[in-house]
Amino acid sequence: MTNNSSSGGGYKSSGGGYKSSGGGYRNSGGGYKSSGGGYRNSGGGYKSSGGGYKSSGGGYRNSVGGYRKLIQAYTLFKWFVGAKIFKHKKPLQSVIFITDRCNLQCRHCSVYNLDNPHVKTFDEIYAELQYCYDLGAGFVDFEGGEPCLWNDNGRDINDLITAAKQDIGFFSCTITTNAQIPFQSNADSVWVSLDGIGKYHEQIRGNGTFATLEQNIAKANHKALSVNMVINTLNWESVAETIEYVKHNPYIKSISLNFHTPFKGTEHLALDMEKRREIIDLIIKYKRKGYPIMNSVSGLKKMKHLSFKKQCWVTNFILSDGTKLEQCAGATEGVCDRCGFCMAAEMNSVFNFCPDTILAGLKLRL
Ligand SMILES: C[S@@+](CC[C@H](N)C(=O)[O-])C[C@H]1O[C@@H](n2cnc3c(N)ncnc32)[C@H](O)[C@@H]1O
Ligand code: SF4
Ligand code: SF4
Repeated sequence: MTNNSSSGGGYKSSGGGYKSSGGGYRNSGGGYKSSGGGYRNSGGGYKSSGGGYKSSGGGYRNSVGGYRKLIQAYTLFKWFVGAKIFKHKKPLQSVIFITDRCNLQCRHCSVYNLDNPHVKTFDEIYAELQYCYDLGAGFVDFEGGEPCLWNDNGRDINDLITAAKQDIGFFSCTITTNAQIPFQSNADSVWVSLDGIGKYHEQIRGNGTFATLEQNIAKANHKALSVNMVINTLNWESVAETIEYVKHNPYIKSISLNFHTPFKGTEHLALDMEKRREIIDLIIKYKRKGYPIMNSVSGLKKMKHLSFKKQCWVTNFILSDGTKLEQCAGATEGVCDRCGFCMAAEMNSVFNFCPDTILAGLKLRL
């Protein structure tokens, strides 16, 4: 899952590769102060709730009423009992890749398609949404490529979200975006990919991408915007400052931390397990201090060894060429033994009744 959101990472080697000169970022000195206006609150909106998560406030209309939340909680409970007691393997969440067209060529990514991108039509996506809903999924994440670039005859990603919720019946929709174009999203939550601060983000994603991301998340002023960091050999040194940055940025609610999964062509970016364990210990320290980290301590500990049972069928995937997968493409590519998607461990913790993970899951879902 994207992150504790459900990203599937790469499933196709494009052979492409971004070459960065590493320059371009204007950092005002140390750490996590930046030039992009990220810290300034635009006047309304967000209040910090002290040590941890920031509360929403004004701005964006919340359409999930109390009654809807109750049904959602009941559905989650029913799904859990079905899965745990009756061994039903129904997806709870779906990830739909609506396009593999992208405005970036990130060094760690093997999803984007430069030469001949697949861009689904509204009707194709609608049919896929219906298929996922019929399988039992109540939550959907729209991915790409860059999902905010998607449109079909004047319809954009917000129209897909409206259709998913109002016509089909999904409880909640999320999008995962690189935040390189301005967006005003009606998604229940927005995941923005942030791969470190300043030069760390930019050596992976390209010059100027950090300042643009900051400006666009400030303009978006979404009530439930979180970031997803994928930790690799290029950016691991930026983990601590990124967590600090998230705590102080009024437009970001929380951070989900994942590790690079070595899809074909990107194997060199995966950290060795010793370094991964060191970074996990660091993340756990921040988590225990109350920093707004979405991962649970139980899930993080499992990611140190990867020896837990995988229950990845919890999320099904539909790729941009229409291929339907019962779990992320890592299984097909044979990289599960080096998996970096922390959601795999979070799901195992849920099935093993780890209270901190269940709490984190409920926070995310309700
Ligand atoms: C493929 S992107 C699509 C959405 C959008 N373009 C973006 O970058 O947010 C979804 C997420 O997958 C992550 N990702 C890409 N390749 C990965 C890999 N090899 N391992 C883990 N996560 C990866 C990206 O960093 C991003 O957070
Ligand atoms: S923005 Fe997203 S889809 Fe595009 S290249 Fe980067 S990680 Fe891949
Ligand atoms: S364990 Fe395999 S299928 Fe599950 S998230 Fe990791 S790579 Fe994907």
